[in-house]
Amino acid sequence: MADEVIHADNEIRNIIQAYPPEKRFILAVMQDVQKSCNYLPKEALLGIAEYVGVPFSRVYSLATFYKAFSLTPKGRYNIKVCDGTACHIKGSPVLIDQIQNSLGIGPGETTADEIFSLETVNCLGACAIAPVMMVNDKVHPKVSSSAILEIIKGYRKEADHEE
Ligand code: FES
Repeated sequence: MADEVIHADNEIRNIIQAYPPEKRFILAVMQDVQKSCNYLPKEALLGIAEYVGVPFSRVYSLATFYKAFSLTPKGRYNIKVCDGTACHIKGSPVLIDQIQNSLGIGPGETTADEIFSLETVNCLGACAIAPVMMVNDKVHPKVSSSAILEIIKGYRKEADHEE
């Protein structure tokens, strides 16, 4: 168990050291890092392992086990298109194709400008309003193929205004 995390930058070090160096806090620390960085950088995993005194492989396997964690950077807008049965029947494959063509990324990828990431998921638990898409925490119900590009454009505009 280390008193101080050496292998991490200041921001990550502060997040890690906000918790006692105990194994039971590993997931909480990972959640906070994911929230702050939008993904789990390798240096954070190394820092957590060092701080808590467990092998890196243990922290890494937790990070890969839980779907909520990402080991690659996510865009500012994380698009999750549901491709579960109800959404699939109602046209989610077409939506996914349209997003791929528009943004030039496939599921699991992030645009070079780090504005958008795309993911497909199995069921968002909202089958009655299929096909469903989420962008960060916002749910877009009954998304039509005519609306999808406008929705993306709206987020693009929002990102341009914030810069
Ligand atoms: S299948 Fe898409 S919300 Fe359930």
